Amino acid sequence: MREYILKTESTLTFYVNGRKVVDNNVDPEWTLLYYLRNKLRLCGTKLGCSEGGCGACTVMVSRYDRVKGKVIHLAINACLAPVASMHGLAVTTVEGIGSTKTHLHPVQKRIAEAHGSQCGFCTPGIVMSMYTLLRNLPKPKMKDMEIAFQGNLCRCTGYRPIIEGFRSFTEDWEQSQAMYNNHLNNGISNGNGCAKGDQCCKNKFNGVTANGGCTEDQAVLFSKTEYTPYDPSQEPIFPPELRMNSSFDSQFLVIKGKRATWYRPTKLEDLLYLKSEYPHARIIVGNTEVGVEMKFKNMIYPVLIQPNQILELTSVATCSSGLRIGAAVTLNDMQQALRNDIESQPEHKTRIFVAIVNMLHWFAGKQIRNVGAVGGNIMTSSPISDLNPIFNAAGCQLELHSKENGIRYVTMDHTFFTGYRRTVVKPDEVLVSITIPYTKEDQYFYAYKQAKRRDDDIAIVNMASNVEFNPGTNTIKDISLAFGGMAPTTVLAMKTKNKLIGKQWDEKTLEEAYSSLIEDLPLNPSAPGGMIRYRRSLTLSLFFKAYLAILNQFEQRKVPVVQKLPQQYQSASSGFHSKIPKSSQYFQVVPADQKDTDLVGRPIVHKSAFKQATGEAVYCDDMPHFENELYLALVLSTRAHAEILSIDASQALAMEGVHAFFSAKDLQEPPFRNCHGIIHDDEVFAEGKVTSQGQVIGAVVAVDQITAQRASKLVKVEYKDLEPVIITIEDAIKKKSFFFNSPKEIYQGDIEAAFRSANHVLDGEARMSGQEHFYLETHCTIAVPKGEDDEMELFCSTQNPSETQRVTAEILGIKSNRVVCRVKRMGGGFGGKESRMLVLSVPVAVAAYKLNRPVRCMLDRDEDMMVSGTRHPFLGKYKVGITKEGKIIACDIEIYCNAGHTLDLSGAVTERAMFHFENAYYIPNARVRGYICKTNLPSNTAFRGFGGPQGMFFGENMIREIASYLNKDPLEISSINLYKEGDKTHYNQPLEYCTLQRCWDKCLKTADYFNRKKQVEEFNRQNRWKKRGMSVVPTKFGISYTLLMLNQAGALVLIYDDGSVLISHGGTEMGQGLHTKMIQVASRALDISADFIHIAETSTDKVPNTSATAASCGSDLNGMAVLDACETLRKRLEPFKAANPKGKWADWVKTAYCERVSLSATGFYKTPGIGYDISKNEGKPFKYFTYGAACSEVEIDCLTGDHQVLRTDIVMDLGDSLNPAIDVGQIEGGFMQGYGLFTLEEMVYSPTGTIYARGPGVYKIPGFADIPTEFNVSLLKGAPNKHAVYSSKAVGEPPLFLASSVFFAIKEAITDARAERGLKGTFKLDAPATAARIRMACEDEITDKFPEPDPSTFTPWNVVP
Ligand SMILES: Cc1cc2nc3c(=O)[nH]c(=O)nc-3n(C[C@H](O)[C@H](O)[C@H](O)COP(=O)(O)OP(=O)(O)OC[C@H]3O[C@@H](n4cnc5c(N)ncnc54)[C@H](O)[C@@H]3O)c2cc1C
Ligand code: FES
Ligand code: FES
Repeated sequence: MREYILKTESTLTFYVNGRKVVDNNVDPEWTLLYYLRNKLRLCGTKLGCSEGGCGACTVMVSRYDRVKGKVIHLAINACLAPVASMHGLAVTTVEGIGSTKTHLHPVQKRIAEAHGSQCGFCTPGIVMSMYTLLRNLPKPKMKDMEIAFQGNLCRCTGYRPIIEGFRSFTEDWEQSQAMYNNHLNNGISNGNGCAKGDQCCKNKFNGVTANGGCTEDQAVLFSKTEYTPYDPSQEPIFPPELRMNSSFDSQFLVIKGKRATWYRPTKLEDLLYLKSEYPHARIIVGNTEVGVEMKFKNMIYPVLIQPNQILELTSVATCSSGLRIGAAVTLNDMQQALRNDIESQPEHKTRIFVAIVNMLHWFAGKQIRNVGAVGGNIMTSSPISDLNPIFNAAGCQLELHSKENGIRYVTMDHTFFTGYRRTVVKPDEVLVSITIPYTKEDQYFYAYKQAKRRDDDIAIVNMASNVEFNPGTNTIKDISLAFGGMAPTTVLAMKTKNKLIGKQWDEKTLEEAYSSLIEDLPLNPSAPGGMIRYRRSLTLSLFFKAYLAILNQFEQRKVPVVQKLPQQYQSASSGFHSKIPKSSQYFQVVPADQKDTDLVGRPIVHKSAFKQATGEAVYCDDMPHFENELYLALVLSTRAHAEILSIDASQALAMEGVHAFFSAKDLQEPPFRNCHGIIHDDEVFAEGKVTSQGQVIGAVVAVDQITAQRASKLVKVEYKDLEPVIITIEDAIKKKSFFFNSPKEIYQGDIEAAFRSANHVLDGEARMSGQEHFYLETHCTIAVPKGEDDEMELFCSTQNPSETQRVTAEILGIKSNRVVCRVKRMGGGFGGKESRMLVLSVPVAVAAYKLNRPVRCMLDRDEDMMVSGTRHPFLGKYKVGITKEGKIIACDIEIYCNAGHTLDLSGAVTERAMFHFENAYYIPNARVRGYICKTNLPSNTAFRGFGGPQGMFFGENMIREIASYLNKDPLEISSINLYKEGDKTHYNQPLEYCTLQRCWDKCLKTADYFNRKKQVEEFNRQNRWKKRGMSVVPTKFGISYTLLMLNQAGALVLIYDDGSVLISHGGTEMGQGLHTKMIQVASRALDISADFIHIAETSTDKVPNTSATAASCGSDLNGMAVLDACETLRKRLEPFKAANPKGKWADWVKTAYCERVSLSATGFYKTPGIGYDISKNEGKPFKYFTYGAACSEVEIDCLTGDHQVLRTDIVMDLGDSLNPAIDVGQIEGGFMQGYGLFTLEEMVYSPTGTIYARGPGVYKIPGFADIPTEFNVSLLKGAPNKHAVYSSKAVGEPPLFLASSVFFAIKEAITDARAERGLKGTFKLDAPATAARIRMACEDEITDKFPEPDPSTFTPWNVVP
């Protein structure tokens, strides 16, 4: 043992929110997030994914940089940062910057006031990203903000309000304010628009607003004008001890844990010594690779070494050949160093640096780049690393040190990577630095990356091209092309290199390059990652981009070339970059004479928004631990269809801290039951066999989460595989695997006669994939037995407390009156917590009941994605009869949904698809048949729209196909088929107060459709490889549960003798603002200020037998029930008001109390006049409809399949909105969720039913940069709805489908791309329109080189369910 190892420090010291934490009992395997939430009980920082992909765990870490003499603040992911790496640092969490009890930080205040927090689960992370940005840059630019949020996701808001709120911090906003003030002093608005014309703030930046105006109008969703500039001097100071005392930096830290030891040497020789002692030690800088391996691949690394204090690894130096960068330099610091050099060196020298800087923009999120190091990227050697292709093509030099063999220099050439995640670096060697070379004048360097989502995503394929020409010519002197995503390692295309040297940079060479790249980069049809033809096409497409970029350079530099770059090709080589977003929101303001206390119709802030922004809002897993509490971890099936031969939990039970293991055996004896669901096909624990991967087989209960999760991995399950394994809808059809024997059917008119009379009959087929809910808060339950009479309290993140209560009671064999289910709030639900929470809540309740101790479990993201199912994938096969003008007169459609292995809600979901297949179009003769396919996937379930969007997608496809067939604009076909007042749907319901046409016309007008359409055509004429498309889509969504009995709601309103009012109702708060709206309703009904009113939670002991908060009916049903109760109470109080007209609310309440008047009332509502019989096609399934229309314009990159939404205009009829801010938020959030559904989000399954998409790394939901560059939302004015509370309309689900306007706009753009090749007519594009599908539909000479392989010759890596 070396002498210095004896002089080590084993106590971890750091600061959290200004308080010193000194701990000598830290486990090196703990993350900072675990420490904050479990040890310090700071629960404001959230866990959304554990893999650095969602940003919910963002905190700020500050350190004093002694070289620069200043404090550096970094936003980081606490879920990946080892707590041991915090030594000598200061951590700031959301609790540390402000609170509703003291003062709010401006960041917290503005996100809340801008309506940027719905469910609030993402909010603390977003607040901390913004806060950190401001600490570094008190006046950021919009571009800085864009970068700061690359690593944060929000599933509710659609991002626009967050950007809007924070825009008020930017320099850009201050400039616009100055312009605005200037204008107010000089200009006059004519009331018909803004006096500034083109200079109107609406055209300049975000034109907010209401009432048909721009910022000049008084009413806005929120007002930024009174914000005082942010004052950084008010921020807490950096802990003086850390600034003054450098001893923390120089300490050799050694922290020993149960399974791992953490070393933080401060000298290179110590590091080399450790590495020679422990060659398999992991060197941890950002832990962004190792952390993920430990969490999700269950890797155990006994020795972890942090090199961050070693000078040689952390410094950057300029040398004659290039820039030498220490291996532990973070990606952000490297980017900055490269930028500095780019600014100071001649342009031609830094072309590789420019490529790296540009690439880093698309590399992960800021939080990852703040900690992840360049050495980690190289040494992980991931085949989809974004930097290795660049380093490889550039031939960078690595400096390796080892204790035994000293220094070795290695070039990153074609011999460097030796296999999957392997390199020539020896185990005892440490990578000390990389030298990135300068370029020469005749050398060009370009790098490209294509990912599923542009921002913060790993590459599908990337490429770096390094081409040197003989001086002043186009003759290739040397060329290196490196590719990622095409093999188990980064690949240097050596054959191509050898073939191209000496050739001219022209079309002939391009063709030769194509041929040899095909040889250099073969890809087996079964290769991991799938998308084989796409990936292969990308290699050539990316090379083509580099080819064009160099031609462009030749032109600019006047290099004599044979071939010129055609004008139409100019735009091809570049990719998309986000632009500063613009938006507007129009809504109806309340009448001037409406009382101030009457909140109905006002854009008030979500009741919990401020608490959400400060981290004080309590979600299920934030609840303090109960005494004696245990933690549960599920054991999940790893087979899709198999007999369970044995389950052996002995190893798990032998682990210290493990209390029990439960399985089906524990529920065999009455009074217990092991199944639930409409047809009792959902088992609590799989019994005898499994029918899906991710099915719950058992549960381990232990003292804490870490122990339970580790023990659950030790449970051994033996299986015998069974046949068949059915994954796809097509498989199910082939094997006739349906839930009911015959399809459900709706029949209207006489389709045979109508088909006979039709001018044309078209056949078609459309397919839509499922969608993962990706609520930011995963499923969570805490079950607390009360110790007597079988009473149990369940705290559960569920949209359906009554169902949770009912099923728990059934399974435990007790009465419902012994179980109380309580829900404070959810971090998003979207339908995913309507029924599938039972997968977790029931095992937790069983364990708590049997052990008579509180039990908790919050699923990890990967578990949640494996067990909880998705939106249903659908397939539609149809035949449409049309007139010669394109009017639909008949349709026969078969609709198939992939239900998964249990029925769950699939019957009702299929029915809703059947009701909505015609979207917004009148079809007088129709037959709709719905099939529920039983497959071996996790049970698919409710998701915003509940089958409606899938059905509507078929209708819209028909419109496009008719248009294509008749060679007409789809807009014309939509227009002539649009429903009119009084038209009857195919389920025989006449449309009353139908505002569809109004929405449609207004949408076309606000979008300036016809003018812009011409511009799109002109753009397409001028660009060969970029195309634009525009599309308008209407929507009509039926409001009511289709199961009659669910259309009821209850409320309990209590008035206390101080005048305060406590409301309980049956609905749950999942971010949609239901409680806020209920308070607004009560404020009007009781004629009191909202300050008197409180809603604490939803609880089954306050309101019984509630329906799930779903089907968009939450406000309609519960609002009426609240109104009912309030009216009862108001009547009781009227005499006291009359007797004391000058008195106040509290006086009347007090007197009523003294007069012994009951001050509590229940309210009840059942939707009148509905009820439908599918067998007779009679009755009325929906109370009314919500209508809307959207127009979207997109641009696609035909070479990569990438796209950008340039503009979206939405008009929706929401009656008299109860709260325009919340409703606009629902529209924008619903639209963005739909945007994900129609373009980005893809669940990936293997042919044997393994779910590959288990987290944000693989599953991509839209991010900040994906919002339409211009996003305008208008609520239709003057359309009160007599069927719902205070003339409002339901909003939750209807806007989602409007995002299909993006899908169809993409399809229009592809149509134009195909036309360039002479391809005319209709073509199939399944949803989502992913980059892969877009690229492959833009058929050209590149895609032709990769014909579809014969499906019978290989097993694909993945299948589409
Ligand atoms: C959410 C997320 C997004 C990401 N996005 C991208 C992306 O877009 N593109 C991309 O390419 N990557 C991406 N990554 C991968 C990752 O961030 C990078 O590879 C990063 O550079 C790794 O650095 P690190 O310091 O965090 O590595 P660590 O996890 O700390 O270490 C990684 C490995 O490198 C070894 N190592 C580190 N330093 C040395 C050294 N000096 N000598 C010898 N061995 C060493 C370690 O032993 C360890 O095995 C992403 C990761 C996450 C979690
Ligand atoms: S929880 Fe850390 S990034 Fe998602
Ligand atoms: S408010 Fe962002 S995830 Fe819900």
